[in-house]
Amino acid sequence: MLREDLRLTGTKRGCDEGECGACTVLVDGQAVDACIVAALSVNGARVETVEGLAEPGGELGRLQRAFIEAGAVQCGFCTPGLLMTLTAFLRERGSATPDEIREAIAGNICRCTGYSQIVEAVQMALAAP
Ligand code: FES
Ligand code: FES
Repeated sequence: MLREDLRLTGTKRGCDEGECGACTVLVDGQAVDACIVAALSVNGARVETVEGLAEPGGELGRLQRAFIEAGAVQCGFCTPGLLMTLTAFLRERGSATPDEIREAIAGNICRCTGYSQIVEAVQMALAAP
């Protein structure tokens, strides 16, 4: 529904089985795998997709900029899901260790980066004013 009816194609379709995290969106602030959530079941809830992460002027948000600066975007297929997972994570905390960041993204598969640049990006975003 997100991709085909609403044309919100930032949310990616990967495994379709709740395993890869490429389709992660936020439902009332909680990160969920959209591929295993029926649209009717979130009727009335607030659903956030990666399209909503831009700042009011249309500029990229702090975490998005940090991903680019840290080299955490390579093919980019995993990026929207990671950004959504990490947005929920960062809304709850002002600091995190590398191990805590890795744990937070355990449900998001990235085949390109080896995850180190993603962890670095989160640390950069946390340190940003
Ligand atoms: S597409 Fe892989 S978890 Fe949804
Ligand atoms: S950047 Fe390619 S899968 Fe993560």
